[in-house]
This record gives sequence, structure tokens and C-alpha cells, in this order.
Amino acid sequence: MAQKKRQPLSVPELIVRKREGRKLGAEEVRGLVFGFMNGSVTDYQMSALAMAVYFRGMDFDETVAMTLAMRDSGEVLSLDDIEAPKVDKHSTGGVGDKVSICLAPIVAACGVVVPMMSGRGLGHTGGTLDKLEAIPGFRVDLSIRQFRAQLRKIGCALIGQTGDLAPADKRLYALRDVTGTVESIPLITSSILSKKLAEGIDALVLDVKVGRGAFMKTESDARELARSLVRVGTLGGKRVSALLTNMDAPIGYTIGNALETAEALEILHGEGPDDLRELTYELAAEMLRAAGVTKSKPQALRRIELAVADGTALQKMRQIVKAQDGDPGVVDNPDRLPLARHRSSITATAEGYVADIDPLELGYASMGLGAGRSRAQDAVDPGAGIRLHVQVGDRVRAGDAVATLYASQRQLLGPGADRAAACFRIGKRRPPARNRVIETIRR
Ligand code: URA
Repeated sequence: MAQKKRQPLSVPELIVRKREGRKLGAEEVRGLVFGFMNGSVTDYQMSALAMAVYFRGMDFDETVAMTLAMRDSGEVLSLDDIEAPKVDKHSTGGVGDKVSICLAPIVAACGVVVPMMSGRGLGHTGGTLDKLEAIPGFRVDLSIRQFRAQLRKIGCALIGQTGDLAPADKRLYALRDVTGTVESIPLITSSILSKKLAEGIDALVLDVKVGRGAFMKTESDARELARSLVRVGTLGGKRVSALLTNMDAPIGYTIGNALETAEALEILHGEGPDDLRELTYELAAEMLRAAGVTKSKPQALRRIELAVADGTALQKMRQIVKAQDGDPGVVDNPDRLPLARHRSSITATAEGYVADIDPLELGYASMGLGAGRSRAQDAVDPGAGIRLHVQVGDRVRAGDAVATLYASQRQLLGPGADRAAACFRIGKRRPPARNRVIETIRR
């Protein structure tokens, strides 16, 4: 007997189904995403669906369907003409997270092609593109043709997400951002992976941040997100692993675009803060493992240390900056980076140990100085930000400077200083030391 074909559900019926916690089929999810792109599903319907997903979640099959539909909403790059393994890294966003800027040239210097597509800062988290653009002349808007040519020639390119890759995510994220629906594990999973699966990479290493300065505040939520990303990404045909990393204090000593770029360059010179080096080397080792170029973590770490010590990572950075029209002199002389003219210091109010530095509030303070943006269309001030003089665990005396604030407009310093000063807590006992990397999650 011929099977009766079921009439497809209308968009309002699908929204109601999700609102009631029932499952959507893969074709239904795909239909919603494509309808959203062709205008038959409106912005308000998609926002309602996002809210239903926020409260009711999506299971693995639905998340995979959502990810693949968003990936297929635009161009899916192939970089198969480049033989070497191609690996990217993505961070879920932190405060002072300048890792990409030193990581990419280090990994490329170890023989892995790094086609890195990054984002801009929004809210309290900074963005790699804004940090790179602090280098005078640096262009992040390469065409796909230029991107490919640079990967072939240098083995690394640091660019912005082109509008042609996963456009459904760009539109949906804009709705989520203003409808209180960002913090949903299936929506974050499909958002991140739809873009990464369209990039033409072989493998992806994720830095899933956990703590006050991150999207995921608890280890169990971060672990669930990391597992979801690894599982869905693997099903999408890539080797995907994730590092769960601590975001309860800013990374390194700088927050703000040029300040952070200068600090990332210090790592390439074999200097810079220990926590930034630890995070960079751990992620780099995982990328070398994913690429199959080293057999063990100690071997990967030796290779990474050598690439920094013998200057090949630094040379790779000079090549990248030059190829992307930036001033390559900055790599050896970070003083050429812009730094805002007006400054003010924050001092310790008591003697003791730095017990806490609130990354979330400090991220907002830096944004208020002009280093970040609250709306996607806002411009950022490359020279604004905060330089810390201490990290958690350091001993201070009352009156010691704990941070310097930088702003181009003097009137921004007062409110910024009040907000930043409240981020430091001094205690009587030294708090226990914490590693940045908490756990590695693989398939
Ligand atoms: N980063 C993304 O790209 N998407 C999200 O949904 C959250 C963080």
C-alpha cells in the first residue's frame, strides 16, 4: 500500500512543538533555517523559536540538523588543494584572551596550516580582529582567493568571517543577541560549528572558557558545551577536541586591543606572562596532535618551544603581518602600537595578597574606556584598555599600583577607574595557584 505523505507542519506549529518540549525532525529544522534565509520564516518567528530552544533545548539529532543547515546556508570552502593538515582554534570568549595572535604563527611554524577566521569583540569580551587591527595597516578582510594564496605561501592567514560562510548564523546571532537567547548550549554549538565546518579545515581545537568572565559560569555547563561541540563537530566530519580553561581572572596582564597584541608578541619573543604561555602552548600542542604532526604531548611541547626559541614563530608572524599589509616593524618593536594618551593608576587599598581580580567587571571597565563595543556597529579605540601590574596571588603593599587605565578621552577615566578599582580584592592569605587548563575533552 502506498505510504500516505504527511502534510508538513506550518512554522507556528513547529514553534509550538518546540515550546512544548517535543522534538523537531531534521527536515523540519532544515526547513526553518532555509525559510529564515529566504524570508518565509520571519525574524520574530525565528526569535520565538530561539526562545523555545533556550528553555526546552535540542537533542543531539536536532543540534546536528541545525548545525548542518546553518553551514549549508552559504558557501562551504574546500581547501583540499592544500596538502598539509589544516587546523583552526576557536575560543568561546574571555577577558584578555589574545591567544590566537601568538598561537597561529607558532603552530604554522611547526608545519601545520592555520586558516584562522576570527570575530570582533562584543560586550565584555574582546575580539581577535580588533586586536590585529591595532597593528597599523593590518587588513583582516582578505578575499577567499587572497586567503587561499596566503595559506599556500605562508601557511597561515588571520582573517574575519566572510559574509558568505554560514550567513544564517550571522542573522540568527543578531536576533539572539537582543532577545536573551545567547546562552543556550545547542544554539551556541550550532552557531560556532556552522562557521567552522564551512572553513575547509581538517581539525578544530576549541577553547571552552569557564568562570565569571565566560559565557559558561560553571564547570558542568562548560563541560556539557564542550562535549556537545566535540560530538557534533566530529559528526560534521572534522577532528574536534576541546580544552576546558579557567576564566575566573583575566589572561595575562593586559585588556584592550593594542595592549593585548603587544603582550601576545612578547610570547613570540620567548617572554610574556606564564599563564598566557601555558594556555598558548597547551592549545598549540593539541593542534599539533590533531594535525598528526607529533605523536605525544611532550614531543609537541618540545617542537613548540623550539619554534619560539629559534625565532621561526616570530619570523612567521613578520610574514603574516607583511602579507596582510600591516607594519611588520611592530613585531620587533611593539612600541609602534598605538597607546591612548590619558592614563590613571589604581592602587591597592591594603597590604596583603591579591585574592581576586574580577574578569567580567574588568572587561566592562575596559569597554567603558573605549576598548570594546556594546553594539556591533560601534568603533573601538585601539589604544584604550587596562594594564595590570599584578596577578592573583601576588603580594602588595597599600598604595602599590595594581593597574593603569588608558583612554583617549580624559572624561572616560573617572568612571572606568571606579569600576576597575572595585575588581581587586586584597586578602590576608595567598590564594591557591590555579592552572589555566582544567581538562581536555576528546571523542
Ligand atoms: N560564539 C559564537 O560564535 N556563537 C555563539 O552563539 C556564542 C559564542
